[in-house]
Amino acid sequence: MKEKYSTLIDFDATQSEYLNLISMIMDNRKRGDKPVAFIHTYGCQQNIADGERIKGMLSIAGFEFSDKPDNADVILFNTCAVREHAEDRVFGNVGALKNLKRKYPNTVIALCGCMMEQKHIADRMYKSFPYVNLVFGTHALHLFPELLYKTLSTGKRVYTRDNDDTLVHEGIPVKRDGNIKGWLPIMYGCNNFCTYCIVPYVRGRERSREKDIIITEAKEMINSGFKDITLLGQNVNSYGKNLKDSCSFSELLKEIDSIDGDYWLRFMTSHPKDCTKELIDVIAESKHISKHLHLPFQSGSDRILKEMNRHYDRKKYLEIVNYAKKRIPDVSLTSDIIVGFPGETYEDFKETLSLIKEVEFTSLFTFIYSPRVGTPAAQMDDPVSAEEKSKWFRELLDVQEEIASKRCASMVGTTQKVLIEGAKGKDGILNARTSGNVIVEIKAPEELIGTFQNVEITSAGNWILKGKVI
Ligand code: 5AD
Ligand code: SF4
Repeated sequence: MKEKYSTLIDFDATQSEYLNLISMIMDNRKRGDKPVAFIHTYGCQQNIADGERIKGMLSIAGFEFSDKPDNADVILFNTCAVREHAEDRVFGNVGALKNLKRKYPNTVIALCGCMMEQKHIADRMYKSFPYVNLVFGTHALHLFPELLYKTLSTGKRVYTRDNDDTLVHEGIPVKRDGNIKGWLPIMYGCNNFCTYCIVPYVRGRERSREKDIIITEAKEMINSGFKDITLLGQNVNSYGKNLKDSCSFSELLKEIDSIDGDYWLRFMTSHPKDCTKELIDVIAESKHISKHLHLPFQSGSDRILKEMNRHYDRKKYLEIVNYAKKRIPDVSLTSDIIVGFPGETYEDFKETLSLIKEVEFTSLFTFIYSPRVGTPAAQMDDPVSAEEKSKWFRELLDVQEEIASKRCASMVGTTQKVLIEGAKGKDGILNARTSGNVIVEIKAPEELIGTFQNVEITSAGNWILKGKVI
């Protein structure tokens, strides 16, 4: 029998009590009228969702939030470990706080997120920056109140990396950024171990949230006015595999889609190896699911896909994409691509280019390979120079720009349903988005923010459209 991983633990009363104690300590410690926190989240949507839980907990302790560290009583960096560049930025940003901490020694500086789940990095940060008060990894998120209280009440530095990565912690308070678009995690962790990726090491084993809890949270979001909800997981297609009452992702989607209301439903990320025709059928027949599929293929070369441990080939990928194109008219496809995986040749890279041309994606998230300590790919021979990889990368951007601009141009004159998300500047231009996730700029009154509108597309740039409300 398969092991059941999704042990459910509720945010316990002890943690709530710590939030009360923090609130009392902050009464005497705050610099302004109210305690203020600056939370900076790097990386993916999962990290953003974690950041919203940290804000939820701090809100209960009476905190307000600032978009700069200067006036904050608590500064927290919620870090990302997926590529070296994101890590370097954290080192730079924490280093830049030295003077602020000297001026206001009571400021608490905390580091959490994926970087802190890597022992060698957490150790290095803790040693390099003696003014950092608190370090905790992704698996200790639910203990944040206790950890913050410990450092506040003792003045001592706190360092913890709770390694139990098999649990789902429910009931952590959430303070979402904005009230139009919202993230809804449905599962945590990843079991896929793609050879380049650090995520399975820092986010632990795959575990799903109970279906009923997700449905309740989705209903709450819809009832409180969210118009665009994205279900989150590293590989949403394997949702529910280790739940006691097993439930497939397609079943979950259908249930959420049946909730009444005026909203769009999205999800990310789908792994092509588990993306089924049944799932495409659910999208095609749904009422609320946006006609958008984010399906990362990473490389167009079968040889490299094997080296990446991706468990699908180009043929299987194209099969699912072509089925999606057939079943969902005007489907918008997006993807992630890695350029310069160890041992990739220009011939392999040309296979990636040809796949992009064949599929005609709406947009791509493109990355140059970044070696991650502890992953198999970091041990592989990597003979191609950084300059050469950058050249390939630019070539890929040029090819995609041409495809995207052609796709945008073909939409001029059409009518699109869009969600108006916010104001762009002061000149009455609002940002909206199509179901396929393309940005449309429109001139319209601000009262329309947060509403769906039909717009006529009047002109197109390379990546964005302009339109007017009909
Ligand atoms: N180097 C470059 N890109 C990476 N990704 C994951 N790991 C690495 C790495 N080591 C990219 C993949 C993934 C996206 C979230 O980040 O394309 O889909
Ligand atoms: Fe990383 Fe692969 Fe898991 Fe995605 S599926 S998080 S790329 S290991």
